[in-house]
Amino acid sequence: MASALNQDLSPSIASSGINLVDPAHYAQHGYPHEIWTWLRQNKPVYRWEQEGALDYWVISKHADIQTISTHPRQWLSGPRLTISHEAEQDMSAFPPTLIQLDPPKHGVFRKLVAHRFKPKALARLHHDIEAIGKEIVDKLIEEADTGECDFVKEVSAPLPIAVIGWILGLPKEDWPLLFDWTNKIIGATDPEFHVPGTNPQEAAQATMVELFTYFTKLVEEKKKKPDDGLVSLFTQLKVDGKPLELMDVMAWCLIIVIAGNETTRNGTSGGMLAFIENQDQLRKLQANPSLLPSAVEEVVRWSSPIIHFARTAAEDGEIRGQKIAKGEAVALFYPSANRDEDVFEDPFEFRIDRNPNRHLGFGIGEHFCMGVHLARLELTVAYKHLLPRIEEIELTGPVSRLQSSLVGGVKHLPIKYRIKPAA
Ligand code: HEM
Repeated sequence: MASALNQDLSPSIASSGINLVDPAHYAQHGYPHEIWTWLRQNKPVYRWEQEGALDYWVISKHADIQTISTHPRQWLSGPRLTISHEAEQDMSAFPPTLIQLDPPKHGVFRKLVAHRFKPKALARLHHDIEAIGKEIVDKLIEEADTGECDFVKEVSAPLPIAVIGWILGLPKEDWPLLFDWTNKIIGATDPEFHVPGTNPQEAAQATMVELFTYFTKLVEEKKKKPDDGLVSLFTQLKVDGKPLELMDVMAWCLIIVIAGNETTRNGTSGGMLAFIENQDQLRKLQANPSLLPSAVEEVVRWSSPIIHFARTAAEDGEIRGQKIAKGEAVALFYPSANRDEDVFEDPFEFRIDRNPNRHLGFGIGEHFCMGVHLARLELTVAYKHLLPRIEEIELTGPVSRLQSSLVGGVKHLPIKYRIKPAA
C-alpha cells in the first residue's frame, strides 16, 4: 500500500509502503537491507513520518550511531527505548531498567552489577556454561539418526534459557517460564505468541506483571537463603548506603531475563543460517578451529540480533549537518551500521576471518552490552561442539521470523543434518 508520507525516498521504497518499525515487515520479509543501503547512500539521517504514531529520524550510518551512543547526555535513553509504529503507550507504571536510564544514574546502577559479567567473574562459571552447552549439543548429536530438527527449539532457545536461569539462581523447574516470558514480551506482536483477547501492549504488560509476581516471591526466598545467583546479589545491592527499592530489584531481574535471552537465541540461529548458506565458511572453520573467536564476531555482525534502539534529543542538536530538535526521536538501526560500506570491506559477504570487525551488534558507548562476554561465551560453546561434527547440513523448510522490530528473531530453523563420527 503506497503512503502519502515519505515521498522523497526512492520511488520503489516510497511506493512499497514499508515502515522500518513495523514488526510485520520483519516477519514477512526479514531485514530491509536494500532500503537501509539506499538510505545510507542517499539520506543517512532521514525523517520518517508516520500516520498516527511518532515521527522519528532514521540513523543508518555506523559513524552516526557511534556519535549518538557515545554522547548519552545529549541523546537520552529515556523516555523511550524503541519506536513504535502505533500510538505510544504509557509504560510509566513499570520501573525503568538499566538500558532506559541516563547519566548519572545509569553509571551508578551499571557499576553495581557489571563486575559479575566481566571475563574474570565469568571464568568461574566457564566450566558450568560449557557443560550446559555441551549437554544441549550432545543431545542433537545423539539424535542424529533422525537427522532432522528445528535448530531453534533444540539448541538456540534452550542454551540462553539455561544459562540465564542458572546465573540468576532460579530453580531448574522454573527455567521454562523464562522462555514463555521473553516470547510474550519481545514477541508480543507475533501471532504465535499472541495472547487471545488482548492487544500486544496489554499482553506484554500482563506478562511483566506475571514476571514481577514470580520474582517478588523469589526475592523473599533469596533474602532468607542467599546463594551465588544474581537474584541474591540484587537483594543485597545498596546505593548511598540504602538497599535498592523492590521496583529497582525487579527492573534488574527483568533486564537480565529479557536482554540475555532473545538476543543470544537469535545470534545462534542467525549464525547457523549463515553457515548453512555459506558452507565454504563452515568448511574453513572446520579446517581451522582457531578462527572460532573471529567467526563469533562475524556471526554477530552478520545477524545483528537487535534491530533498533531509540534515543531522544535532550537539546537541539545536529547529526551529519541535519538539525534535530529537542525532544525528537532517533532510531539507531544496528544491522544497517553493520553493512556500512565505509567501514566494512564487502559488507554483504559473510567472512569468518574478517579482521578488523568493528561491528555495532553489541552497541557502543554508555549502554554497550553488559552481557557481551557471556554472549560470546554462549555462541562459542554452541558452535565449538557442534560445527566440527557437521558433515552435511541443509534447510528443510522456510525460516520463520519473529514479528518484532526490536529483535530480529528466527522462530523456527528446520534443518536436516549428518554428523561425522567423533574424532
Ligand atoms: C548475541 C547476544 C547479544 C546481543 C547482540 C546484544 C546486544 C545488545 C545491544 C545492542 C545493547 C544496547 C547497546 C546500546 O544501546 O548501545 C545491549 C545492552 C545490554 N545487554 Fe546485550 N546483547 C546480547 C546478549 C546479552 C546477554 C547474554 C546479556 C546478559 C545476560 C545482555 C545484557 C545486556 C544489558 C544488561 C544491556 C544494557 C546495558 C546498559 O544499558 O548499560 N546482553 N545488548
